[in-house]
Amino acid sequence: MSLKVVSVVGARPQLIKAAVVSEAIRKHCSEVLVHTGQHYDYEMSDIFFADLELPSVDHHLGIGSGSHGWQTGSMLIALEEVLIMETPQWVLVYGDTNSTLAGALAASKMRIPLAHVEAGLRSYNRAMPEEINRIVADRFSKILFCPSHSSVRNLEKEGITNGVHMVGDVMYDAMLHYLPKAKDRPSPLERIEVAAGAYALATIHRAKNTDDPERLAAIMACLAVVETTVVFPAHPRTREALRTNQLAIPENVRLLEPVGYLDMLMLEQGASAILTDSGGVQKEAFWLQVPCVTLRDETEWVETVETGWNVVVGVDPERVQAAMNRGRPVESPPPVYGDGKAAGRIAELMAED
Ligand code: UD1
Ligand code: UDP
Repeated sequence: MSLKVVSVVGARPQLIKAAVVSEAIRKHCSEVLVHTGQHYDYEMSDIFFADLELPSVDHHLGIGSGSHGWQTGSMLIALEEVLIMETPQWVLVYGDTNSTLAGALAASKMRIPLAHVEAGLRSYNRAMPEEINRIVADRFSKILFCPSHSSVRNLEKEGITNGVHMVGDVMYDAMLHYLPKAKDRPSPLERIEVAAGAYALATIHRAKNTDDPERLAAIMACLAVVETTVVFPAHPRTREALRTNQLAIPENVRLLEPVGYLDMLMLEQGASAILTDSGGVQKEAFWLQVPCVTLRDETEWVETVETGWNVVVGVDPERVQAAMNRGRPVESPPPVYGDGKAAGRIAELMAED
């Protein structure tokens, strides 16, 4: 009998990661895909199933939005029922969202071995909800799949060395796999009526950047100093915060609904620069060799900064302007996030364990 893995997803980036990992896992194990329902708008969830040919969901928990305690607690209750029913040999969680935390807690309490994809990331800022989620997931995992050597070292510093594997970043696998498909479709640039190289791309969604109206206003001021059009596919959280606080959108900013991953890759590749607070987008900028400006006070993806492809500037318009005017780094991004074969390694290691 083959091993049964329950994979827990719920938020946009987890769907992208699962697209490549699920395919690899299904070559070795039987997989049960659980969607917590943390993200539920068409543009935040279903579009990824349609574009990326994800396997269909076996259990949709339909939890939706709420406070951290309510959301995580509701997921925990529902996941426990699924795990009682499915009796898997592994629970697999991704990244650092509340869906990750709930999956990690449900598995640990039921003493089902836990596997964590994207282990060992740290911002060293516990005011970030994601930092708590990743620390808990790493602490309880039996097997930890790290995307980089620095994430292995972060775990070492916390005394976590057993079951740690540097496999590379599954988002790099996803980008390599889906970029040719993205190029094969009608270009989103034509639809949006922007020319390659003539616009910057922005995404913002972090709690710190959206919950405080003053900080969000400062971010709008940061986008206003960009000398080109800024294409801004806005996360629903950000759109809502802009609306409720009646913040003005700068004239050079083209506010869009969130786009699917294939269109996002093309928008990233065509941009002259990317301004973001997203983890995934910082790395995609690095891999696609598009200069990135990170509107945060720190980053977990330290390698992107070391070669000058990414600059962390906070939300200060002057620093944004300086970062936008820096030259293109001369050095190509080094292969610090693996070789694009992380998903296969993850599947093999889980099947062997
Ligand atoms: C979550 C993760 C974050 C990750 C991000 C990826 C946590 C604590 N945060 O942040 O680490 O980077 O997903 O995108 O898990 N909303 C909608 N429609 C949706 C989803 C959300 O309108 O489909 C709105 C709701 O008002 C909701 C808010 O966005 O309250 C925030 O959603 P939530 O899932 O709690 O956190 P994210 O900001 O998406
Ligand atoms: N992304 C997308 N459409 C968008 C914005 C982002 O497909 O409108 C993709 C992006 O290319 C990356 C992932 O979503 O692969 C990043 O997710 P997000 O920024 O929501 O979360 P984070 O990576 O910060 O956790």
